[in-house]
Amino acid sequence: MARSVTPRLDLRRHRMKYSTVFDRQDPAPNLRLRLPNLRLAETFRYWESYREVRATVSRYDPARDMRDHPFPSVVQVQTINACNAACIMCPYGRSPASKLGGRMDDALWDKLVDEIAEHPEAHTFIPMLQNEPFLDQQLLDKVRSFKQRTHGRVKVELVTHGGLLTPDIIEALRFSALDVLSISVDSIRPDVYEKIRVGLKFDRLMANIQRLVEARLDVHIVLRMVRQAANADEVAEFVAFWKARGLQTTVWNVANRSGAVDNFKEVEVLANDTPWYSLVGDSLLGRLLPRCPLPFSTTAILHNGDVLACGFDWLHEVVIGNVRHSTIAEIWNSASMRQFRRQHYEKRAGEIGMCSRCSIWQKTWADKQTIDHKEATQ
Ligand SMILES: C[S@@+](CC[C@H](N)C(=O)[O-])C[C@H]1O[C@@H](n2cnc3c(N)ncnc32)[C@H](O)[C@@H]1O
Ligand code: SF4
Repeated sequence: MARSVTPRLDLRRHRMKYSTVFDRQDPAPNLRLRLPNLRLAETFRYWESYREVRATVSRYDPARDMRDHPFPSVVQVQTINACNAACIMCPYGRSPASKLGGRMDDALWDKLVDEIAEHPEAHTFIPMLQNEPFLDQQLLDKVRSFKQRTHGRVKVELVTHGGLLTPDIIEALRFSALDVLSISVDSIRPDVYEKIRVGLKFDRLMANIQRLVEARLDVHIVLRMVRQAANADEVAEFVAFWKARGLQTTVWNVANRSGAVDNFKEVEVLANDTPWYSLVGDSLLGRLLPRCPLPFSTTAILHNGDVLACGFDWLHEVVIGNVRHSTIAEIWNSASMRQFRRQHYEKRAGEIGMCSRCSIWQKTWADKQTIDHKEATQ
């Protein structure tokens, strides 16, 4: 019998309770044949999005505001306000709003989809915001009808903790036309995983990923790690583990989500433990993008229709409007949103409470306090 083309997951080391696709000796799905092409396409798409957002951010002129981009490129929507985990670095459960729960009603969902379908400027749709999206049992029906309504033009991405990827959900994924599924894994060490992802089980997640891989769906899968104190020494191991199995990874630094992570001091990675490539990355981001790109690219809509100026605002401090009474386009071009962008443009984001507390802004843009007129007139 031919040996597996993917390296085996060492069961003894990982103390797993069942065998996985990574463990078996029979041929495993040859992912490597398919994924490199997808990766190239994905990389190209990310590059294109970056070029677009850089152009918008760099050439921004407050007098014209978003006249050339009258609609957000990325729309994020919370269909349900719920999560069944309590990850140590996540504001969910710490923010007062998450305790209220709630679900977006169908009429509001349809209204949003109709409007996005009319706007060619929207290229990415993420029906996930400050929640676990698969707790919405109609989620994949919604994704499927969204793709139909927008004729496949808008890319749909989801981020999930992966604990709810049951066989039924995986089968439903096959027909959903979802483009990208990111699964938050954070660690390949069971004890570290369960320490970070409180309430979730490592064995279940690995079994779910196995099932997903075996299903060979036409969905681009990305495994995510949030680099933080508990797993900071594991990054290279994590990336190599999944790469050897033909799966793509992304690593993000833990952020304080506009100050909503009240234990940030415990979970952040200290400067001394930060590798050079991460420091270079932070500094490069500040050079590649003269200001935070989110106000110029993305809108974030909560289940009750409230629109946040920033999706990282877990305390819901800056609510720009509500899509029950207005359109997405009206809110995107409203006086409050223009004012928010102007403050970023004039390097006065430090005057906005949530931005001044945002660890991403602090690390990347806080020290660049004067307007670069050359860049503004490019
Ligand atoms: C808020 S979660 C929502 C989706 C889903 N519940 C999940 O866990 O993937 C979206 C992503 O944010 C990440 N995340 C949570 N807290 C974070 C923090 N403080 N800094 C950076 N990323 C964080 C999660 O790991 C996940 O990859
Ligand atoms: S990271 Fe995701 S799974 Fe974990 S608590 Fe936050 S929303 Fe829930």
